[in-house]
Amino acid sequence: MAKVWSKRFDNTLNPFIEKFNASIGFDSKLILEDLDCSIAHAKMLGKTQVLSSSETLQIINGLETIKVEYLEGKFFPSPPAEDIHYCIEEKLISLIGATGKKLHTGRSRNDQVGTDIRLWLRKEIDNLEIIITDLQKSLLNLAKSNIYTLIPGYTHMQRAQPLSLAHHLLAYLEMFQRDRDRFKEVRSRVNTSPLGAAALAGTKIKIDRNFTALELGFEKIYKNSIDAVSDRDFCIEFVSASALLMSHLSKISEEIILWVTDEFSFAKLTDKCATGSSLMPQKKNPDVPELIRGKTGRVYGHLQALLTMVKGVPLAYNKDFQEDKEPIFDTAETISSCIQAMTILLNEGLEFNMKNLSNSVENDFSNATDLADYLVGKQVPFRTAYQVVGEMVKYCLERKILFKNLKIDEFKKFHPEFDEDVFVDLEPVNVVKSRTSEGGTGFSQVEKEVKNWQKKLLS
Ligand code: ARG
Repeated sequence: MAKVWSKRFDNTLNPFIEKFNASIGFDSKLILEDLDCSIAHAKMLGKTQVLSSSETLQIINGLETIKVEYLEGKFFPSPPAEDIHYCIEEKLISLIGATGKKLHTGRSRNDQVGTDIRLWLRKEIDNLEIIITDLQKSLLNLAKSNIYTLIPGYTHMQRAQPLSLAHHLLAYLEMFQRDRDRFKEVRSRVNTSPLGAAALAGTKIKIDRNFTALELGFEKIYKNSIDAVSDRDFCIEFVSASALLMSHLSKISEEIILWVTDEFSFAKLTDKCATGSSLMPQKKNPDVPELIRGKTGRVYGHLQALLTMVKGVPLAYNKDFQEDKEPIFDTAETISSCIQAMTILLNEGLEFNMKNLSNSVENDFSNATDLADYLVGKQVPFRTAYQVVGEMVKYCLERKILFKNLKIDEFKKFHPEFDEDVFVDLEPVNVVKSRTSEGGTGFSQVEKEVKNWQKKLLS
């Protein structure tokens, strides 16, 4: 097929270079957005009387026909068209004839492609908002039924202080809320129309940029035509927000992988979300969280690719930008599947092992801070109390016992302020209950937070 520029050239493209140059292999994903963009552009040209009303109608009908054919599976964008934009233009001309050649008046593929990816990304972000909220609801459900379930809390992967399991889960809910907020902010910048910037300088054709922006649901238009066709910040922002989201998913994945090991045994996987081994009959593998953890690297890679793609690229459009699509397409697909897989895993793939969880907090020194705080309550300076308890830990470790196994007179040997009521403070459930500072793991605080989230997510 002859290229649109064939009249200016003497020779045709080397077939390898033709393929190398083409983006139709991946940008056909933008077909619906490209059609909407063209319909809005044609309507605008009709309104400004660049096109007659019958030409406008013919073009719009032609584009609508292409849409129907595509949706009915009768039209597949494919080579030899170089990209989706030429593909649609050629198809339109073949459908309605010469009038189709007027569609590209007053625009360039540069502002066109920028419009298409923004429309596509906006739709993806709207879908992400729904599925991240679903993920939050799953976490909230689990949290709601585990306010009084205790789990060891770790710092440096060493037992630190016991926690309400709900509090632990709500920490993830907070992270995913920040992810939602970030996507919302990215959306507002994605939702800016570059259409009408033309190649880079604007156009002398009578166009109405605000009209097309309104038609396509954009909140505003780019103020500078060069910036409009050069800006790929929004792609980077999208992948950056996605990379952070993946870091959160990867964190919870890693915890689940640990929780279901024989060594931790805090939870087990149900058959719905686990796989067996081809060789070892006893195995039940956590493929879902492992895959999510693994896919995180891919999204980080896309971020690096995009940042490098824009580095040092002069104004305005450069073909480098064709490389923006695959990273954002793959990022959107990857994060969306990971979010949904994690939601399913939380809903039906995980069973907490209540017995092991409560046993685990009974048999460690994670109540050591509380022992020090007990003395603080009796006016002992914290640093002194801390050192007293340090000695006590050593004493117990040497005898292979826990604080609760000490007799009251042994306690008193370490500090005279200790009394019988210390045993109550040492109980893990009381340790957790007492953390009533705002945002702490105390049950009253966690109950309040569960209620807040319920209001926020379920109303
Ligand atoms: N396929 C191109 C892309 O995805 C469309 C824009 C081409 N513009 C140009 N001046 N060659 O970036």
